Amino acid sequence: MAENQEGASSEGKPAADMYPKKILEYMEGFLISKTVFSSCELGVFDVLLAAERPLSAEEISQAIGASLDGTERLLAACAGLQLLNTHRDNGQVCYSNTEQASVYLTRSSPVSLYQSIQYSSRTIYLCWHYLTDAVREGRNQYEKAFGVSSNDLFQALYSLSVILFPLKNQLVGFIRRQWVCEGETERQQRVWAVMSDEEMVKFMQLMNSIWNICGKDVVTAFDLSPFKIICDLGGCSGALAKQCTSAYPECTVTIFDLPKVVCTSREHFVTEANKRITFHEGDFFKDPLPEADLYILARILHDWTDARCIELLTRVRRCVAGGGVAPRGRLRPGDGAALLPEHAGADGGEREDSCSVRCPADYRRIHGTQHRLTGKIYDAVLGHKET
Ligand SMILES: C[S@@+](CC[C@H](N)C(=O)[O-])C[C@H]1O[C@@H](n2cnc3c(N)ncnc32)[C@H](O)[C@@H]1O
Repeated sequence: MAENQEGASSEGKPAADMYPKKILEYMEGFLISKTVFSSCELGVFDVLLAAERPLSAEEISQAIGASLDGTERLLAACAGLQLLNTHRDNGQVCYSNTEQASVYLTRSSPVSLYQSIQYSSRTIYLCWHYLTDAVREGRNQYEKAFGVSSNDLFQALYSLSVILFPLKNQLVGFIRRQWVCEGETERQQRVWAVMSDEEMVKFMQLMNSIWNICGKDVVTAFDLSPFKIICDLGGCSGALAKQCTSAYPECTVTIFDLPKVVCTSREHFVTEANKRITFHEGDFFKDPLPEADLYILARILHDWTDARCIELLTRVRRCVAGGGVAPRGRLRPGDGAALLPEHAGADGGEREDSCSVRCPADYRRIHGTQHRLTGKIYDAVLGHKET
């Protein structure tokens, strides 16, 4: 009897040794996410970091102001997830952070993911609850998730400390695209305008956090040393610009972003001492783009409709001096046939590709694109302008 790759018989009956590992993991994945979110939000890892010794469940529950029973269950789950170590002290179980938890899940760590986790917990998690409805209805579900009409969306997003766009993959992109429209930039500017400086800084820290962890891998996935003048479109806090200047000592980077973002970035993120990073305020759909031989588009295209992506990429293509264009995104199996690992080159990392790679709009207009997988959450795509 012929077996397919998954081990099922051709008659559709499960093979005796078949176990739906992936499906079971997919079914329960949200339990893990939520355990991590809640532990961070309650400050479990911060309390353990500050204590500098293993603590009992009772001590932790008092420090985080939570019930003993709930805390015991949460700590046991974290230990199971290898986020906490357990120690036995006179028959009592005590807990300490694992190294990864100390480094990535505590608020004070320079490479903390705390802000991103909070955003995932308070915003994305709620929106994803309504994914079925979003697909069925073909529109965003903010009204159901946050109890506000999408007419007041931006004000509501702000008041909920929900921030607009770092939505990481195609499905969320799909949900968002339902409300992204021609007036989006104006709306986005309005949101920036109502956000307090503190909120702006928080959002920008959130944007930074992932590049602290994998920015270097992305900017060095290709040798970008031939590109001396780089423009990071929507460069926000300059996290990738800093990675570029540190990896390529001869380059300069211009961060192109909306005025309020540039102002906050200048004030809080990029010091004047960093002479190789400059700013340019503007709207990348309307204003002339600064001259450069490499343009970076990091986590930009997922925010826009296909038509807008093509518009932006066409503008970049017209401007690029003869060098390249480097959109960066998260490439995952399923994003496009060209990205499947088995399609990668012999070195597992590079493949010449002259057609679309992620979604039709993203890279279609850039010919001779290459992508490289970094093994981390974001990968790199580099396209050269045809001459
Ligand atoms: C999701 S964030 C990505 C930030 C950064 N590239 C990163 O990966 O961390 C999108 C950025 O695009 C900027 N942006 C949005 N619309 C823009 C426009 N029309 N012109 C210039 N920048 C814009 C936002 O202000 C924001 O900084």
